[in-house]
Amino acid sequence: MKTFLGIDVSTTGSKALLIDSAGSVIASASTPHSLSTPRPLWSEQDPQDWWNATVNSIRTVLQQSGIPAGAISAIGLTGQMHGLVLLDKAGTVLRPAILWNDQRTQDQCDEIHARIGREKFIQISGNVALTGFTAPKILWVAENEPEIYAQVKHVLLPKDYIRYRLTGEFAMDKADGSGTVLFDLRQRDWSGELLNALDIPAEWMPPTFEGPEFTGGVSSGAATDTGLAAGTRVAAGGGDQAAQAVGVGAVEPGIIGLTVGTSGVVFATTPAALIEPEGRLHAFCHAVPGMWHFMGVMLSAAGSLQWYRDTLAPGMSFDDLLREAETVPAGSEGLQFLPYLSGERTPHPDPQARGAFIGLTIRHGRGHLTRAVLEGVAFGLKDSFTLIQNAGLERVVQVRASGGGTKGALWRQILASVLESELVTVNTAEGAAFGAALLAGVGAGAWLDVPAACRAAIKITGRTVPDDAQFDSYRQSYALYRELYPALKSSFAKMSA
Ligand code: XUL
Repeated sequence: MKTFLGIDVSTTGSKALLIDSAGSVIASASTPHSLSTPRPLWSEQDPQDWWNATVNSIRTVLQQSGIPAGAISAIGLTGQMHGLVLLDKAGTVLRPAILWNDQRTQDQCDEIHARIGREKFIQISGNVALTGFTAPKILWVAENEPEIYAQVKHVLLPKDYIRYRLTGEFAMDKADGSGTVLFDLRQRDWSGELLNALDIPAEWMPPTFEGPEFTGGVSSGAATDTGLAAGTRVAAGGGDQAAQAVGVGAVEPGIIGLTVGTSGVVFATTPAALIEPEGRLHAFCHAVPGMWHFMGVMLSAAGSLQWYRDTLAPGMSFDDLLREAETVPAGSEGLQFLPYLSGERTPHPDPQARGAFIGLTIRHGRGHLTRAVLEGVAFGLKDSFTLIQNAGLERVVQVRASGGGTKGALWRQILASVLESELVTVNTAEGAAFGAALLAGVGAGAWLDVPAACRAAIKITGRTVPDDAQFDSYRQSYALYRELYPALKSSFAKMSA
């Protein structure tokens, strides 16, 4: 039987996952890497740490599975999106990578909009410039580290640095490429116009490929380091959100991926390069060839519950907390929670937004506070859901829920009733690495195309039906929730100053 290896270079660690051609997981290993915040708002990692961690995870997986390296038919790559990796002409890393959660580039975002025109920028790239994305990071280095900028010859994203170390090739997939916001979204490739306007040499950018396409083979040096067989083909893969969507089967229009991890993501495949006119949704290429997607990203989803438990109920189990919240009626008797603990991206791209409990009375107990957190996160996700529906994707066939936050029945129930949509859960829990392995399998011909791979490997394991008796209550609470951020926006800005 053929086997495929998925590699995920995430923010917290690098994972290697081996699957067979039935889509079953054979072995999985993850090696952590640390993150450095040398200044407030900065977030960096050393690409060498990613490589060391990747080598360790690959070696562990090979050892655990007992499978000879030569039996791996292909490798698929995925990883944290938007991170800037700069190399000189010898392929040496010039400075630590600037990550997706780094917030130093607001001035450069404003500058991009000023140089190109905000509307034109949205029309070409599909997005507004946000601090998280890659393009403003390149401008930041040009303006603040000219001596480094002068040596740049290659711009890569995190997983593509690993590709370079594995194969010696400079290449990138279309999904991650579009996340630099230097793509012409419709053309699925670099925009000469944007690169020109921002004075970024086009020759710095690598050629881009569809997710299942091969971009090279493992070099003999990398084979020695990792234990992989030289020549093993490496597929383009996809940025982690696109690969995660493949990993749960959100690869066709109408099937929405809902991920409630530390952050929360609503992901919708689009058959064309649709754009939310004000750029409130991210619009990127999918890892599925010829498909695009919308995405709403909430920065603190399960992260809000984690913060709440650690801060206000330390030592208490999530199960016990949720049991208390179960006894509180839908709407938490008027208590609201704003989940903007790390600022927000969708629908309010505002690093200064703050979290809040609003409407407290002496009647409210801990169960109300907990339930308000669950409901506030669900309302934040509904914001993205609604934007997606209003942007031309009214037809929701199915919502596929994944991530730690969807493990508990109560939160799933709240999400289903707030979104007024059935939620399904699937058998795959390995996320983006699993999606990357499926993309490699499609490249190697194990499945006809990405939807066929998903149909073969991914099964529905559970359904949560919305409770229509709660719709009125949630609609009222949601309407109120929608009023709170606009009312508090300027206060949040003052607090943050
Ligand atoms: C997506 C995003 C994050 C990173 C982190 O736009 O910024 O999901 O990819 O992994």
